[in-house]
Amino acid sequence: MKDAAPQTIHLKDYAPPAYLVDEVQLTFRLAPTATRVLSRIRFRPNPEAPSRDFFLHGEALTPIRAAIDGQEVRPEITEAGLTCAVPDAPFTWEAEVEISPRTNTALEGLYMSRGMYCTQCEAEGFRKITWYPDRPDVMAPFTVRIEGDAPVLLSNGNPVGMGEGWAEWHDPWPKPAYLFALVAGDLVARRDSFVTRSGRTVDLALWVRPGDEGKCAWGMEALKASMRWDEDRYGREYDLDVFNIVAVDDFNMGAMENKGLNIFNSAAVLASPETATDANFERIESIIAHEYFHNWTGNRITCRDWFQLCLKEGLTVFRDQEFTSDLRSAAVKRIEDVRMLRARQFPEDQGPLAHPVRPESYQEINNFYTATVYEKGAEVIGMLKRLVGDEGYAKALDLYFARHDGQACTIEDWLTVFEDATGRDLSQFGLWYSQAGTPRVSVEEAFENGTYTLTFEQRTPPTPGQEEKKPLVIPIAVGLLSPNGDEVVPTRVLEMTQARQSFTFEGLASKPVPSILRDFSAPVVLEREVPRAERAFLMAHDTDPFNRWEAARSLARESLIATIREGAAPDADWLDGLAAMLRDDTLDPAFRAQVLALPTQSELAQVLADRGHTPDPDAIHGAVEGLRDAMARHLADLAPHLYESMRVTGPYAPDAEQSGKRALGNAMLALISRRDDGALAARQYAEADNMTLALAALSCLLRVGRGSAELAAFHERWKDDRLVMDKWFALQVMEAKPESAAETAARLTEHPAFDWKNPNRFRAVLGALAGHHAGFHRADGAGYALLADWLIRLDPVNPQTAARMMTAFQTWRRYDAGRQAHAKAALERIAAKPGLSRDGAEMVGRMLG
Ligand code: PHE
Ligand code: ZN
Repeated sequence: MKDAAPQTIHLKDYAPPAYLVDEVQLTFRLAPTATRVLSRIRFRPNPEAPSRDFFLHGEALTPIRAAIDGQEVRPEITEAGLTCAVPDAPFTWEAEVEISPRTNTALEGLYMSRGMYCTQCEAEGFRKITWYPDRPDVMAPFTVRIEGDAPVLLSNGNPVGMGEGWAEWHDPWPKPAYLFALVAGDLVARRDSFVTRSGRTVDLALWVRPGDEGKCAWGMEALKASMRWDEDRYGREYDLDVFNIVAVDDFNMGAMENKGLNIFNSAAVLASPETATDANFERIESIIAHEYFHNWTGNRITCRDWFQLCLKEGLTVFRDQEFTSDLRSAAVKRIEDVRMLRARQFPEDQGPLAHPVRPESYQEINNFYTATVYEKGAEVIGMLKRLVGDEGYAKALDLYFARHDGQACTIEDWLTVFEDATGRDLSQFGLWYSQAGTPRVSVEEAFENGTYTLTFEQRTPPTPGQEEKKPLVIPIAVGLLSPNGDEVVPTRVLEMTQARQSFTFEGLASKPVPSILRDFSAPVVLEREVPRAERAFLMAHDTDPFNRWEAARSLARESLIATIREGAAPDADWLDGLAAMLRDDTLDPAFRAQVLALPTQSELAQVLADRGHTPDPDAIHGAVEGLRDAMARHLADLAPHLYESMRVTGPYAPDAEQSGKRALGNAMLALISRRDDGALAARQYAEADNMTLALAALSCLLRVGRGSAELAAFHERWKDDRLVMDKWFALQVMEAKPESAAETAARLTEHPAFDWKNPNRFRAVLGALAGHHAGFHRADGAGYALLADWLIRLDPVNPQTAARMMTAFQTWRRYDAGRQAHAKAALERIAAKPGLSRDGAEMVGRMLG
């Protein structure tokens, strides 16, 4: 670990690379602790560069030799890379280094996962493989030769030859080093093929460990659907002869879009009905799509530097969201995405880790693969599309691909494309990329002589390093309903550009009921005191499904807040409205299930904090439990009937229709279990032939304090299946009582199957604790202390995964003085760890402020 003062990298310091690369040839001689990497790189001076300083990144490499144009050289090597005197003309660099994949526990660079070699190079992992200008604006075609005794040897691009103990690959598409990949191991393939719209046949393969063959079908279907969709919706065709996907057990993130060789966390690709839930299937479908879509938005057009990360990530998330909307239900997908945005991005944007969608500085780029860059980045594109319209968006995207194919681009390039394609001035809109924080929008209404006026005011609270905020362009989709429930003004997008701004609607017979921010048209917090009756009216009548859901959700939220603040009884109007919606068979079951989901406890804590109250996690937990009991009572007659009618007959399919039914059925089961002591859940568990039904039943049982026999049986049945065992670990923490969640997590860390160096398993236990609001924020600090212990232990082994989980502490200043003191002590203990990684140091530093 480096002890030198951490360096801050600034966007404004960007300079083009001194040398460009025309061609890369790599040879790998694989060996667990002594892999040799030979590189042959053709460099050429960059006419656009301000300097001629030759620098190659390189970390933890054992130098063997280096040569320029065949002449041995002795470069000056530091911890970060090397410098060397080079010709001011094209030349060939050759080097040989030794690396040790077996001891690489950080899972970055070339590492081993249960005997299999694999790589992870984004963002800056290639420098742990060989010396190279490891920056995304250096793009080159790669040829790779792999020598090793593993039966399967894979790299990017097309295969050009193979024999006993070797294989060669060539990727003709110039790419940055972060998209390099290599895999070697004892793998089996599920194969298929895809004919592109111009008639080329692409060989598809999903590579897994022997034994996992039965978990590949869904991923393959999702891949083919993604390839078709990108042709149909974006006109984007695949560009190599093969497309390979590999499932890896040890992986820091979900998956990686390496050119022609996507590498997936096995949890993000492997699924069978018995082992994966409907939610897993949907997530796999969207991640497969996401990585595939990167082929155009990320790979063919990449980022100039890492500050531009949202250029590929925001756009690719937006595209995978569109894909899921098209394949499943657009309304349900929008609700899911907003729930996730509020659960993950809003806390980030409102706390010490707030940063713009395009950050302006960082110490460790790995810390910026955030909900802000990804999810808010996608929201910004959604707003852009709403503002320029579908046609304008399509024109702009065509221009983007035509103008920038093969380039490493910036957000300015992206916005210019929209300006050129649509003639719009986007300078104010561009603030969404540079200004952090979640805007608050308040609303006033007036009605006079048939004219209805909405006046909005926007305000973005200060964020670290950004005190003053400017007004943003906010598209506010509004529809108006008449008091009898008819829509009198269909959805119209109001373009707010000023701090305070009015919009009028004329010729109305009576004062309408406004439906504001339909489809969640902007990532803002709407601050409006709405009478309960109006919310109940929108819950029953809004024609915009998102806002109908939102009305129900906000009634539930206000009911919970009233319980927490004043001990108020649950809102009877909401319960009645809920029953009416549940009974409405014209509503999609998946949508009805979404209406039943209560705001998260962390969200409630944020609402309380926003209103100037100190959230008490135990009181919040109690209120939520109380409301669930009230729902169970209120819906007691309806629930068994609905449960029965949601039964799926016929073979399991993880499609929208079946999974919607199971979601609603399981929601009914959860309510019924509160009153029958888990009898129905025990039956569902015993009869379940798929994981969705089994897991839901098991959690109901645990929640009512039963289920130890089932838990043991589950363990017995699945002990050899790592992905299912992750569920077994996580569920016990998730369903623990607040007062025992930390002890449950601590006990599970002693279990022989708790392999803490595996990120999935670590997250299953400690991530579940961090997600257990009342359990993590326990008054005596036990939750904070346990997580801190484990983060301190994980940091030197896997700094990336440890640093990501430190975000659990980001809301610590919301709570009371006692909890704050415990959280601060935990953070300070992490900060004081000698040799703390750059990743960890930056995270705790920002959170301590
Ligand atoms: N680029 C990957 C994705 O969004 C995420 C990732 C980042 C994976 C860094 C690994 C390391 O699809
Ligand atoms: Zn991505």
